[in-house]
Amino acid sequence: MVDQNPSPVGVADLHPTDEAIATARAARRASSDAPLLAAVRGDIPSRRPVWMMRQAGRSLPEYRELRREVGMLDSCFRPDLLAEITLQPVRRHDADAAILFSDIVVPLKAAGVGVDIVAGRGPVLESPVRTAEAVGALPVVEPSQLEAVVEGIGGILGELRDDQVLIGFAGAPFTLASYLIEGGPSKNHGVTKAMMYSRPELWHALMEKLTPTVVRFLQVQIEAGADAVQLFDSWAGFLSLRDYREFVAPYSRRIIDAVRPYGVPVIHFGVNTGELLGEMAAVGPDVIGVDWKTPLDVAARRVTASLAENVEAGGPGSPGVRAIQGNLDPAILLAGPDVIRDQVARVCAEADRAVAAGDARGHIFNLGHGVLPETDPDAITRAFAEVHGQ
Ligand code: CP3
Repeated sequence: MVDQNPSPVGVADLHPTDEAIATARAARRASSDAPLLAAVRGDIPSRRPVWMMRQAGRSLPEYRELRREVGMLDSCFRPDLLAEITLQPVRRHDADAAILFSDIVVPLKAAGVGVDIVAGRGPVLESPVRTAEAVGALPVVEPSQLEAVVEGIGGILGELRDDQVLIGFAGAPFTLASYLIEGGPSKNHGVTKAMMYSRPELWHALMEKLTPTVVRFLQVQIEAGADAVQLFDSWAGFLSLRDYREFVAPYSRRIIDAVRPYGVPVIHFGVNTGELLGEMAAVGPDVIGVDWKTPLDVAARRVTASLAENVEAGGPGSPGVRAIQGNLDPAILLAGPDVIRDQVARVCAEADRAVAAGDARGHIFNLGHGVLPETDPDAITRAFAEVHGQ
C-alpha cells in the first residue's frame, strides 16, 4: 500500500496531554448547574434541557439572509458568521444548548480534501476514496488548520449565558467514510458496505486514517471551550449489529476514549439505530441519542440491559446508566400546536419513565433527527417552551 502520509498517528498520540486538559478546563465557562450538564449527571435540572439538531440553519430566515452570498463550507470557516449562525436559534428559542455551526466534512476540508456541500444534496467529494492509494493520500487534519473554528467558538462563548452550553460535534467514522467512499450522499451505502465486506483491510486502513482526524476535530473544539460534544454516526443504522461491532465500534470507542480525559459529556447518535443502541452505548458515551422510532423508555431499557450483558460476557464497555437524548419526530413540528403539545408531553413522559425505572440518568429533549428546513420557526419556539413547562 502506498502511504503518502507516512506518520500514522498511534492510539497513545490521540490522548490529550495534561496541558491540553488544563487548557480545555480553563476555557469552559458554563456553570456546572447548567440544565444540560445536570441532566447528564443525573441531578435534577432547574428546567428540562432542550436543543434541536439542525436548530441552526435553513428553518430560520435570519440564517438564509446571512448565507445569501456565502457558500455553506465558506461560512464554516468565517469565525464571525459561524458564531452568529450558532447563536441565532439560541436567542430565538431560548435553547439550553448551542450546537456549533459547522459540518462533519469541515475537518476534511480543512485538511485539504476536495469536498464541497451542494445545496439540497449534502457533501460531495471531488474524487471518491476507493483505493489503497486514495486512503494513503488522505491527510490527517492538523489543529492549526482549524483556527477559524477556534476563533468562532471564542465569539460564541462570549455571548452564551452561563446556564447555556456549547455542544461541539464530529461525524463518526462510518458516516464520514460513507461520504468519502460513495463520493456523496447515498441511499443504501452499497459501495461503502461492499468495500467493508470485500476489502476489509482497506476498510480498516480508512478507519485508521479517519480516527485521528475525528479526534483532533473534537479536541480542538473542547480545548476552545465546548462544554459537551456529540459524535454523529448518522448512517450507522444501515449496518447489522454484527457488522457494527466488527467494523465500526472499535474506532468510535477509540475516539470517545481519546476525549474522555477532558471530562466533557459525549453524546452518541445515529438514525435507525434501534437495534444498535446497546452497542453504541458500549463504545462509551455519557448520553445516548435516540431517533423517533424507539420510545425513550424502551431505548433506555435496551441500553442498560445490553451494557449489563456485555460486562457479564467480559466484553468492552462499562456498566451503568447513561443519560438519554431525544426523540420527537421532526415532522411533528409541521403538525400544529395541539399535536406539538401532546407529543412533547408524550416524549417527556417516556423519558421520565426511563429515569424512574433506573434505566436513564436524565433526559435531554431533542428531535429524533434534524429540524426539517420547511419548519416554521415559531413552531420550534413553541416546542422549546412546551419542553420547559414539562
Ligand atoms: O444528516 C446527517 O445526519 C448526515 C451527516 C451530517 C452532515 N452534516 C452531512 C450533511 C451531519 C450530522 C452534519 C452535521 C451538521 N451540519 C451540523 C451539526 C449538527 C446539527 O444538528 O446542527 C450543522 C450545523 C450542519 C450544517 C449544515 N450542513 C447545513 C445547515 C446544511 C444545509 C445546507 C445549507 O446550505 O444550509 C448542511 C449540508 C449537509 N451536510 C447535508 C448533509 C446530509 C444536507 C444537505 C441538504 O439537505 O441540503
